[in-house]
Amino acid sequence: MRVLVVGGAGYIGSHMVKMLLGAGHAVITLDNLSSGHRDAVLGGSFVEGDLADPECLNRVFEQHKPEAVMHFASYIQVGESVRKPDIYYRNNVTNTLNLLDAMLKFDVKKFIFSSTAAVFGEPDYVPIDEAHPNRPLNPYGRSKWMIEQVLADYDKAFDLRSVCLRYFNAAGADPEGQLGERHDPETHLIPLILQAASGRRENIQVFGRDYDTPDGTCIRDYIHIVDLCSAHLAALEYLNHGGVSDRFNLGNGSGFSVQEVIDAVQNVSGKQVTVLNGPRREGDPARLVADAKRARGILAWQPTYTALDTIVSHAWQWELKQLS
Ligand code: UFG
Repeated sequence: MRVLVVGGAGYIGSHMVKMLLGAGHAVITLDNLSSGHRDAVLGGSFVEGDLADPECLNRVFEQHKPEAVMHFASYIQVGESVRKPDIYYRNNVTNTLNLLDAMLKFDVKKFIFSSTAAVFGEPDYVPIDEAHPNRPLNPYGRSKWMIEQVLADYDKAFDLRSVCLRYFNAAGADPEGQLGERHDPETHLIPLILQAASGRRENIQVFGRDYDTPDGTCIRDYIHIVDLCSAHLAALEYLNHGGVSDRFNLGNGSGFSVQEVIDAVQNVSGKQVTVLNGPRREGDPARLVADAKRARGILAWQPTYTALDTIVSHAWQWELKQLS
């Protein structure tokens, strides 16, 4: 199949491009390189361009004739979204509408959308299933939830079939060591601890030790990047076999605390990390854990790398590569 991967030079997108190529698909990556890396796109065609530019989209669709689209390009920082909601809505909502316009114009009707656990807000219960109410707490989460609703309407009006995948905490790196996380600035827990372990950073700050959890630190559901990508591949198969538009939560279903993640990094790397205790970060729920039974059942998705130590060791291998 010809698959357009928007944001294919980013952390998750680049792993997706690699997996699609490995599965024999023809891949076209569209990325504006605002945060992605050209050298992370390991094959297929590459177009440097922006979703804000409809002419560019016309050219991509005309020239490459994609049959399905995966959309990874968005701004992802919760705190920044509170300070700069305008750029979040423009990039994550308006630009996605441009992409959908192009799809409709060129009659491409299969769409896989990167959504987030942030569409739920503060959970009423964990693990969080798809029936949980949606009450996003910040512009980032709201921007993703808006597109989920847009997609439901586009399905009804235009027969555009979509799968929304709500990622919990994407983590880890390519087991073959070719790809990994390279955000600038880095805000995610695992790469920050790894950088503290490797000496690229002096310490790690724990955002709050007074949560209502066994060790007082926040609990998250870390899911290996390869497992996230295999869910997209499964979603593509699902749409190809006539699957109806749907939304799925993606996680392992087991939560680890910030302290447990620090311990795992120290264990895997054999290095001690300097840990500082900081205040809570605004908007952090105490626990976010996915109930991903529907993805396992309906998409026949099977995560492979569920152990935290495996996730951390692949990310550590990547961190060591950044030093050399
Ligand atoms: N944390 C620290 N210190 C740090 C960084 C993070 O203690 O320096 C803690 C956070 O408070 C949180 C946990 O580590 O409890 C994980 O934090 P991340 O920033 O790595 O991930 P989040 O759970 O905040 O964010 C993830 C995705 C976001 C998405 C969000 C949805 O990375 O893109 O889930 O809730 F918006």
